[in-house]
Amino acid sequence: MRYADVYARSLDNPDGFWMEQARAIDWERPPSKALFDKNAPLYEWFSDGLLNGCYNCVDRHVAAGRGDQVAIIHDSPVTHTRHEITYSELRDRVASLAGALQAKGVEKGDRVVIYMPMIPEALEAMLACARLGAIHSVVFGGFAALELAKRIDDAQPKALIAASCGIEPNSVVHYKPLMDAAIEMAAHKPDFCVVFQREQEVARLTEGRDHDWHAFQYGAAPADCVPVEGNHPAYILYTSGTTGTPKGVVRHTAGHLVALKWTMKNVYNVDPGEVFWTASDVGWVVGHSYICYGPLVHGATTVVFEGKPVGTPDAGTFWRVIAEHGVVSFFTAPTAFRAIKREDPDGALVKKHDLSRLRCLYLAGERADPDTIEWAQDKLGVPVIDHWWQTETGWPIAANPMGLEPLPVRIGSPSVPMPGYDVRVLDPDGTPLPHGELGAIAIKLPLPPGTLPTLWNAEGRFRKSYLEHFPGYYETGDAGYIDEDGYIYIMARTDDVINVAGHRLSTGAMEEVLASHPDVGECAVIGVSDPLKGQLPMGFICLNKGVTRPGDAVAAECVELVRERIGPVAAFRLATVVDRLPKTRSGKILRATMVKIADGQAWGIPATIDDPAILDEIAQAVRGLGYPQG
Ligand code: COA
Ligand code: AMP
Repeated sequence: MRYADVYARSLDNPDGFWMEQARAIDWERPPSKALFDKNAPLYEWFSDGLLNGCYNCVDRHVAAGRGDQVAIIHDSPVTHTRHEITYSELRDRVASLAGALQAKGVEKGDRVVIYMPMIPEALEAMLACARLGAIHSVVFGGFAALELAKRIDDAQPKALIAASCGIEPNSVVHYKPLMDAAIEMAAHKPDFCVVFQREQEVARLTEGRDHDWHAFQYGAAPADCVPVEGNHPAYILYTSGTTGTPKGVVRHTAGHLVALKWTMKNVYNVDPGEVFWTASDVGWVVGHSYICYGPLVHGATTVVFEGKPVGTPDAGTFWRVIAEHGVVSFFTAPTAFRAIKREDPDGALVKKHDLSRLRCLYLAGERADPDTIEWAQDKLGVPVIDHWWQTETGWPIAANPMGLEPLPVRIGSPSVPMPGYDVRVLDPDGTPLPHGELGAIAIKLPLPPGTLPTLWNAEGRFRKSYLEHFPGYYETGDAGYIDEDGYIYIMARTDDVINVAGHRLSTGAMEEVLASHPDVGECAVIGVSDPLKGQLPMGFICLNKGVTRPGDAVAAECVELVRERIGPVAAFRLATVVDRLPKTRSGKILRATMVKIADGQAWGIPATIDDPAILDEIAQAVRGLGYPQG
C-alpha cells in the first residue's frame, strides 16, 4: 500500500486501522476495539486488551527462535568496553531482576524511578518493571539532585534503581551521591534502592535501604510476566513545560507497543534481526522509544552507546560503531552532526570505515538545519530523514515513511504526517489556516495510540496545557506551516521551551532559579541561537535595590545556582546584569525582541513598549556576552 492510502485509512477508519496493526504484537487477551472515547476529549486505546510489555519485547522473541540473536550491543568508548546480550540472556537477566523486585514487594502499578547512564542494565531495569506491570520513570543523568527529588515526589516510587556512576568524557558523574541527596530533599522516601556498582566507582551503600544489584538478585525466583490492561501505564517520563514543575507524561502499555512496532518497518525501514542504533540517552523519550522498546518489540538488535559524537575518542566514533556492528538505520540529533562536522569538516574520518550496510540516517529532537542535512547526505551517501515528534507523542508525528514508500525529501521539512496524526495549522482563534501560512500547529483529536493520554496525577494541567486553547485539538507548542503537498515545516516553539543540544529545557524553570537568588529582583531567560547546540539559554538579571555587590559576581552565582538546581544539562553560562528589562506598557517582558537583538536579527521597536531606550541597554548587555555572534 502507498503512504497516501495508509494515511487516509488511519483517519477514515482509525479503529480498523489500529486493530490491524495491533495484530503485530502478542496479547494475552486481544482488545475488543481500538479507540475508547467515552471520556472525550480524553482518549484511550486498546483499554480492554491484556498483554505484557516485557513479554512483547523479550520473551516472545525467544519463543519464536530468536533466543541466540543479539538483543543489545553495549558499545562504550568511555570505558573501553563492548559486549553483547542475546535475547535469551536478556530474558533471564530481566526475569531475575523482576523476581528480586517482586520479592521486595514491587507490584503492578507501583512506581520505580530509574537513574542510570547508558548501560544495558538501564534497559533491563525498565523491562523488569514492565514484566511486573510496575511503572518506571527514568530520570536523565544530567539533571541535578533537586530535579530528581521533584520527580521522586511526583511519582512516589516504591523503589529507586541507580548506577554508582556515569562517565562523561572529562568527568565521572556521581549518581549515587546525587541519588542520596535527592532522597534527602524529597518528602517521599522510597522503600528501598538497588545500586548497580560500576568498576569505575564503587558507591557506599546505605545499610537497610540500598541493595547491591547482584546480591539483591541472588536466590530470587525469576518472575513471570504479569499481564496488564492495554491502558495500564507503562511509564511516566518527565519533560519541561513552562514552569519549574516538570510534566509527567504518561504512556499506556498497548498503544506505545503497537505504534512503535508500526514505525520500526514503516518509518525506519528495519527488519527483525537487523541492527538499529539510536545515539541518544535512555533518559529522553527518544531513548525510551528507539533505544529500548521500539527495536526490542520488533525483534531487532539495539545499540546502547555510552559515548559522545566527538572526543570519545574522536569525530569518527559514530562511523566505527556503524561499521563494526552493521547498523542499517541510524538515528541521532542534528547537534551531534554539527559537532562532528566542526571537527572533521571534510569527513576524512568517514572514509576510514565501511558504512556499506547503512541505509538511512534519521534526525530529530530539534530543527535540522539545511547545512547539516546536506553535509551528512554528502559524506554518508545515504538519505537523511528529518522527522518531528515530542516526549508527549512518543513516536513521530511527521516523517518520511522510508519502509512504506520513500517520498521525495524536502530539506527543511520533516515531511508528512504519520498515521492517525491529523495535523492542522491554526490562527490564534483556532481557525485553520491555508497552506503556506504560519500558525500554531495542532493535531485534531483523538491522537493516535502511543501518545500521552494524560499527565501523571495532573489531569487538570493536561487539559490546560494541551486541550483548552484549541478545543477539539491537541496543541503541540510548535509553530510552523504546511505546504501545498502536505509537507510540514516546524519553525519555532510558541512557549518558553528551548532546545539545547537536542535537550528540551524550560526558560521559565531557569527564571525561577534566578529569581530565588537573594540579590535578584527581576530576571528573564531567553533562548539565543548557537551554531553547535541550536540554542543556548541567556539570562538577564536586575539586582534588588540597595545591592552594592558587583553585578558580575551575582551573575556568576546565578550560573552556579542553575547548574546546582537544574543540572549541567541546562548549559546555562550566559548571564548578565541589566538595570531594567524591556516591557510592554502592561508589564509583559518583550522576550521575542530580546532574542532578535541577541541573534543579530532586524528588530523594530514594538509599539507597546514602555521605554524604547531599554532596548539599547539590552543590545549593549548582549554585546558584553559576545552576542550577536559572527
Ligand atoms: N549525565 C550527566 N551529565 C551529562 C549527561 C549525562 N547523561 N549528558 C550531558 N551531561 C553534561 C555534560 O557533561 C556537560 O557538563 P559540563 O557542563 O560539566 O561540561 C553538560 O551536561 C552539557 O552537556 P551537552 O549539552 O551534551 O554538551 P557537551 O558539550 O557535553 O556535548 C554534544 C555536546 C553536541 C556532543 C552533545 O550535546 C551531544 O551528543 N548531543 C546529542 C544530543 C542528543 O542525544 N539528544 C537527545 C535527543 S535525540
Ligand atoms: P522533546 O519532547 O524533548 O522530544 O522535544 C520536542 C520538541 O523538540 C518539539 O516540540 C520541537 O519543538 C522540537 N523538535 C523535535 N523534533 C524536531 C524536528 N525534526 N524539527 C524541528 N523541531 C523539532
